[in-house]
Amino acid sequence: MNNRVLSGMRPTGEIHLGHLCGVIANWRKMQDESECFFFVADWHALTTDYAAPGNSPANADEMITSWLAAGIDAQRATLFIQSQVPEHAELHLLLSMICPLAKLMQLPTYKEQKENLNRDLDTYGFLGYPLLQSADILAYKPSQVPVGEDQLPHIEFTREIARRFNHLYGGGEGFVKQVKETLRALPAEARKTIERAYQAYRQDGEESALTLALAEIEQLGLSTKTQAVLRGYCAYDAEEILPLPDACLTPAAKLLGTDGRKMSKSYNNTIALSDEPSVIFKKIARMQTDPARKLRTDPGEPKNCPVWSLHEHFSEPATHQWVKKGCRSAGIGCVECKKKLADNINTVLQPIQQRRDEIERNGIVKDIIAAGNQRAQAVARETLQEVRHAMRLTVSV
Ligand code: TRP
Ligand code: SF4
Repeated sequence: MNNRVLSGMRPTGEIHLGHLCGVIANWRKMQDESECFFFVADWHALTTDYAAPGNSPANADEMITSWLAAGIDAQRATLFIQSQVPEHAELHLLLSMICPLAKLMQLPTYKEQKENLNRDLDTYGFLGYPLLQSADILAYKPSQVPVGEDQLPHIEFTREIARRFNHLYGGGEGFVKQVKETLRALPAEARKTIERAYQAYRQDGEESALTLALAEIEQLGLSTKTQAVLRGYCAYDAEEILPLPDACLTPAAKLLGTDGRKMSKSYNNTIALSDEPSVIFKKIARMQTDPARKLRTDPGEPKNCPVWSLHEHFSEPATHQWVKKGCRSAGIGCVECKKKLADNINTVLQPIQQRRDEIERNGIVKDIIAAGNQRAQAVARETLQEVRHAMRLTVSV
């Protein structure tokens, strides 16, 4: 398997501290370890907000500027905009031919959003949005897709679509010949395990046999291509044209907003990366605290206080001790505690805001995006050639 990572973010408003400690922190880590593709999912935003499209190009640029300011490195990661790589749309169309309607309708996000978002979502685009996501992913053949928990069913769905695609279009004479040759070259023991698994899985649908064979294949130290051929053979009698990606769960930043609920744009309780010190100070000053601390002399418990959830992310261990001790003994007041927090958040945000100013002054974001779009498109185009070929369409030269 390759070591490629792909993930997307909807351009819905400003990046805030919840993103910084969750998605962005995770992306920053991944860009050191893997070949990363991160994109602004502007078409996705239209699936729900078609009536009020707020995603002007400026918003996508703005979002990528925030990523860069927050430490995503355009040298290491490819940053691009979905709508600038039309191959996503082509793959979406081609996959729509084999996409079972019932599966789309069963996805939990479909029902939940239809119920919760107060607008007409009886549209083709909204129903198909998880398939668009599958196309976003499969165009890059990533091994891993970092997402939040709510998106896990979409990755599972993507795997099902890829499996179906490989099954329908992946076979063929060339493939069978390749499997035979590959098997012949294996040590006898491994060959037997794989053939046994193939029989068991094909005839009886025995999952355990398949698992065993897949583990065996991993251990043989074969080339990526050979492994793919064997995996395809064992599991589906098909070439792995679209490799199945794994979801990798983004660790949730347990970060509360200014009203004590999860920090989220829809609750209007965020602290944005671009907030100035005076704004941050005001927002934090208004934050709720442990309800048990009605008076300055009442002791409190940090665990019951949203201010503490921010200290956990933005303050150093010495301050953690100071808060815990001072809060529980009523040795410190909430005003002091909040002041300290606001200072610490500002310390973290100051270099980010400075970088943003620099990026804006240099005007480099347009070039970064253009280069990213191009790099992304080169990869997606290659996949689309394979997909067109597999679906017996004319392949351009
Ligand atoms: N659907 C995701 C969201 O709403 C965003 C997204 C679009 C995405 N395409 C993707 C995430 C591909 C990962 C991979 O958050
Ligand atoms: Fe919250 Fe700090 Fe007040 Fe304790 S002292 S209740 S942690 S704001």
